[in-house]
Amino acid sequence: MGIGRGFGKTILFGEHFVVYGLPAIASALGSYTTAEVKVVDGKGWEVIDQRPATPGYKKKKYDEAMQSIKNVIEHMNIDVGCQKLELTFSGDLFAASGVGASAAQATSLARALNDEFTLMLDDEKINEVAYEGERAYHGTPSGIDNTASTYGGLIWFVKNLNGGKNTMEILNSGKKMPLVIANTGITASTVEVVADVRKLKEANPVKFEKKFNEYHSLAINAKQALLEGDAISIGKLMNQNHKLLQEITVSGEINNKLVDIALNHGALGAKMTGTGRGGLIIALAENDEVQKNIANAIEVEGYDAWKTMIG
Ligand code: MEV
Repeated sequence: MGIGRGFGKTILFGEHFVVYGLPAIASALGSYTTAEVKVVDGKGWEVIDQRPATPGYKKKKYDEAMQSIKNVIEHMNIDVGCQKLELTFSGDLFAASGVGASAAQATSLARALNDEFTLMLDDEKINEVAYEGERAYHGTPSGIDNTASTYGGLIWFVKNLNGGKNTMEILNSGKKMPLVIANTGITASTVEVVADVRKLKEANPVKFEKKFNEYHSLAINAKQALLEGDAISIGKLMNQNHKLLQEITVSGEINNKLVDIALNHGALGAKMTGTGRGGLIIALAENDEVQKNIANAIEVEGYDAWKTMIG
């Protein structure tokens, strides 16, 4: 049996902007998806999906998930004509919009197939395969999710818009900082939201140019603040990034509501993360006690909240 893992991720800065070649910063989560591959008699492949998930998530993403698995198998040239693959997905990563669940699934599968068929692929190749899996979710993924899922840690990522190698830098943060991740419970469609942003950008090129410039300096400041472990500045920059995401229409009503709850309970900063229009929000806390207060306040309102660390 072959086995592999893919980390979940949270985008600290730059979702959507990253699609257009602007830098983004993501942090891998300690939680991951595990894939197990067993070769059995027959042909084709069968999926046993045991991942914990937001209600409705697996149904909504079913077709894309199957296409993603197919992309990975084909890209790795695994023959499923004279053998059958039994693929089991599990792990402690809660599958929800915004947590990089699709990338974690593709990465874990690439690693498990690599293990089962002794292909000796290095991380760069695993990342390439996982990117092919991500393409099933929308045609033009930036690649940030599969990169965070493959390498782990805190990463600075810039997509190469000419199709060459993307820029990826591991950041060594000055400090570990408590983060709350809260779930709106709404599963968003990345393909739809990314396409809407593109339409809006085409209709308002000047406005977008201005937002892109504003975001670019924000990202550079965020990198510096993370390297210095300057939590106060990181929080402020998260708030500014959230405002920009609202302006490009990707933050939903419940995202905004959860961000406000977090800020009203002492968060240094909060923002939606990932696709938006549902999915998740993140909130930075000064210490464990504030982190607990934020998570409790969100849970009292009926939403799930998880406590983690970044940096
Ligand atoms: C989705 O997790 C992040 C987006 O920026 C899309 C992408 O980067 O491919 C919305």
